[in-house]
Amino acid sequence: MSSISSKKLILVIGATGAQGIAVIDKLLAPSEDGSPSPYLVRALTRDPTHVRAKNLASKGVELVKGRFDDFKAVAAALQGAYGAYVNTDGFTVAEEIEVWSGIRIFELAKQAGVKHYVWSNLDYSFKLTGYNPEYRCSHYDGKGRVADFMQAQPSIVSGRDMTWSVVTSGPYMDMLQQGVFGPFNRRADGTFVFAAPIGQGHVPMIALSDLGFFARYTFDNRELTSGKDLQVASDLVGWDYLVSTFKKVTGLNAVALYQPMDEWFENFSGTEKHVANEGPGGEFVSWKTNFTAWWSLWRDDIIKRDWEWIRKVNPKGHTLETWMRAYNYGETINSGPTLLKNVEDTKSVTMNKERIVQL
Ligand SMILES: NC(=O)c1ccc[n+]([C@@H]2O[C@H](COP(=O)([O-])OP(=O)(O)OC[C@H]3O[C@@H](n4cnc5c(N)ncnc54)[C@H](OP(=O)(O)O)[C@@H]3O)[C@@H](O)[C@H]2O)c1
Repeated sequence: MSSISSKKLILVIGATGAQGIAVIDKLLAPSEDGSPSPYLVRALTRDPTHVRAKNLASKGVELVKGRFDDFKAVAAALQGAYGAYVNTDGFTVAEEIEVWSGIRIFELAKQAGVKHYVWSNLDYSFKLTGYNPEYRCSHYDGKGRVADFMQAQPSIVSGRDMTWSVVTSGPYMDMLQQGVFGPFNRRADGTFVFAAPIGQGHVPMIALSDLGFFARYTFDNRELTSGKDLQVASDLVGWDYLVSTFKKVTGLNAVALYQPMDEWFENFSGTEKHVANEGPGGEFVSWKTNFTAWWSLWRDDIIKRDWEWIRKVNPKGHTLETWMRAYNYGETINSGPTLLKNVEDTKSVTMNKERIVQL
């Protein structure tokens, strides 16, 4: 038997995205002991001709065309897969569609004989806060409801049955390079301005390389992670800590600007659009409503992580400082390719340039 045929095939949904690329890189990397990766990857994508898909193909990833809410395409893509890493996208499809897709893809994986099913999750913030509408964050609750459904399903480690695991992550540390966490403005005197409506709260950020680590760890440890919700992160970041770490690492000057919620949204145009690019699936949730809830989660320190467990499982994981050093932060802000494919594809919410130069 060739070494290729003995490898385990993992279907990745969301493969061309920021998260998918990081996960695939870790799945295909050699094991800790230097032996070749035991995995092969198949990617579901709406556009196999896109440069991101082609880059995956050049790493040996098999491309399959389809949408995750086209269940015929998903069923076909699951055929012969040992595992699935499923990161649906609540910024493309509405929350209602994401929830239904999450449930159906799980069922289809069972039907196809998948052995290890990994759901890429976000905290079910509405439930966590006793159904407080202030924290009803659409792109969190959509995934969180699916994870709750999975908790009601069996997870059996055997040659015949399907095991499930949930990997609950959070905002990417890599979003410091661009987008909502990065500095919006550099003043004439060279000072970087990190503006956020976070008050004295914190974001449990995850470096994409660490998210890739935890995805690989989950597949590598089927028995240990069976039926478990792995709540992962890299470092707990408040904006005073962000600015002091930035100054320490880069030697550049920076300030934290603690804006009130409504004022922060004025840094953008187009915030009244629906949070999902393809529009509502029922309820209308604007980008602003969604991200007001999202920032409120951090401002009020709602989401907790077990840092002792995280550091024990991933002792080489990043802190904010090691991440900034690894990516030469300061020099590289806004210089790389667009992190999120969604943002690259649809520039519907944009920076309000006239406003941010005044920050
Ligand atoms: N930004 C963050 O900090 C963060 C942190 C944790 C989790 N998340 C979650 O991650 C998800 C987005 O993934 P990402 O961060 O990797 O963003 P991204 O870079 O914008 O990637 C989006 C991915 O979703 C895929 N996709 C979108 N609609 C699809 C559909 N109908 N069928 C099949 N594939 C579809 C895209 O594939 P194709 O275009 O190739 O079809 C692409 O791979 C969101 O649900 C978000 O809530 C985001």
